[in-house]
Amino acid sequence: MPRLRPDDIALTPEENAALLADIESDPDTFELDAEWFAGARPVIEVFPDLVEYSRRRIAMGLMPPLPEKLVRGRVGKISAPRAMAGGEMANDPINLYDYEARAKLALPHNNWEFIEAGSMDEFTTRRNRSAFEQLTLRPRFLRDVQERKIATTVLGQEISMPVMVAPAGSHMLAHPDGEVATARGAGRSDTLMMLSTSSNYSMDEVADAATGPLWFQLYHRGYNFTEMLVHRAEEAGFKAIVLTIDTPVASPKERDLRNRYKREHDLGNFRGMDADRSVISGTDETEGWDVSYAPPITWRELEWLRGLTSLPLVLKGVRTAEDAHEAVENGVDGILVSTHGGRQLDMTMGAIEMVPEIVAATNGRAEVYVDSGVRRGSDVIKALALGAKAVAIGRPLFWGLAVDGDNGVHGVLELLREEVDRCMAFCGQSDVNALEPGIINVPYGWGAVGGTTAP
Ligand SMILES: Cc1cc2nc3c(=O)[nH]c(=O)nc-3n(C[C@H](O)[C@H](O)[C@H](O)COP(=O)(O)O)c2cc1C
Repeated sequence: MPRLRPDDIALTPEENAALLADIESDPDTFELDAEWFAGARPVIEVFPDLVEYSRRRIAMGLMPPLPEKLVRGRVGKISAPRAMAGGEMANDPINLYDYEARAKLALPHNNWEFIEAGSMDEFTTRRNRSAFEQLTLRPRFLRDVQERKIATTVLGQEISMPVMVAPAGSHMLAHPDGEVATARGAGRSDTLMMLSTSSNYSMDEVADAATGPLWFQLYHRGYNFTEMLVHRAEEAGFKAIVLTIDTPVASPKERDLRNRYKREHDLGNFRGMDADRSVISGTDETEGWDVSYAPPITWRELEWLRGLTSLPLVLKGVRTAEDAHEAVENGVDGILVSTHGGRQLDMTMGAIEMVPEIVAATNGRAEVYVDSGVRRGSDVIKALALGAKAVAIGRPLFWGLAVDGDNGVHGVLELLREEVDRCMAFCGQSDVNALEPGIINVPYGWGAVGGTTAP
C-alpha cells in the first residue's frame, strides 16, 4: 500500500508520477500519513498533483477528509519545505501567480470559485488579461536610472507606489481577519485601500486598524442608506467616496449557481440594523441583492450625492468616453476604469483597452485609474503610460489574504512594487509621474470610440 512519508519528499518527478499512477490504479489502498500531511506545505510544494487528486476524491466522498489544517490551512504559515532531491527549493511566492496557486489550495472550493469567477462565459475576465498582453514595452537604454521614484499621489493623497487595493466584498472568505487584515497589509505597503460597502468588517473597525489611507466604495441602496453610509465614512476618516456605477442589476456567477454558493458572513456596515433584508442583505453578486426597491441613482442625482459630503467623488466602472465625459461634466474628481474584474457585464473589452478613450474624454479634468487584470509590474507601467494615475488589484488581495493574512496582502503588494521598479529601470524611466508615452506600443485602433473602427 503506498504510504506517503517524509522520505518521499526526495522522490523525483518520475517517481512521483509512478506513485500517482499506482494510487490511481487502486485508490482504495491509498493511505495518507496524516501526521506528515499536517505539515501541509511540503506536500503542496512537492506533490501538487497528488494534493489536487486527493481533494477531488474527498469531494466525491471516496476518501476520508484530510486533517483540517491541510484542507483549509494557511499555506504560507507552514514551515519551510525540505530540499527536494538535494537542491534547495524556493519557499516564498515569487510572483502573484504563486499566491494564486497557493490560495487555491488553501481555500474551500466554493470560496475559491466565488473569488475567481467572472460572469457568464468569463470572456471579459480573460480579455482583461489578454488586452494587457497586447500592449508591449519599448525599453530605452543608456540612461541614468540608478534612482527611481515610484511614489505618487491620488487625489492629493501620497502613496508609496501607483498600486492600490480595489474594493471587494467579503474578505472573510479568504481570512478570518478579513478587511482588517487587508487594511493592515495595505498600510504596511504604504498604499491606499478602498473598502467595499459589502465588507464583512464595518468601516469603523477597518478605520481603527488601518495605518494607510482609505476610500469608501459606495453601492447605492436607496437615499437613506446612501446618506447614512456617506456620513459614517466621512466621520470614520475615509478620504474619498467611490461610487460603483456598473451594477444596475445583480450578476450571479454561473460557477456560484452550480456550487449553490451561499454567503457565510455578515455585512459589517449593516450589522445590527433593523431594515428590510432586501436592502441590507446580499451583495451585488449573491442572493438577496435587490435594488429595485429603491429609486435608482442616475446622473441627475450625482449632484445630490456631492451635496452630502465634501469628500472627493470617484466613479468606478466607467467604460466609455461618453460616460467619462458625463462624469467630468458632473464634476467628479476621479474615474476608476473597471470591468469589475469581468464580474458584471460579460462581453466587454478589457478595462485597459478603454483607458485611452477615457483619458482623452476627461482631458485632465479628473484623475483616471484602472483595475481588472493587473498582475505584473509591467501592467502598472503600461496603464500609467496610457495616462492612468494609478491601478488597483482585486483578486490578488484575496490570494494574499488566503495565503497569509495581512502578511500575504503586504507580500503581494511588495512583489508588484519590485516589478514596477525593475520595469521602470528597463524602460529608462526614473519617475512614475513623468513616464514617456513612447515606452509602450499601443495596438492600432485603441482609443477609437464605439461603433466600427475605421481602417
Ligand atoms: C470577490 C470579489 C468581490 C468584489 N466586490 C466588489 C464590491 O463589493 N464593490 C466593487 O465596487 N467591486 C467589487 N469587486 C471588483 C473589484 O473592485 C475590482 O474591480 C476587480 O476585482 C478588479 O479585477 P481583478 O480581480 O482582475 O484585479 C469585487 C471583486 C471580487 C474578486
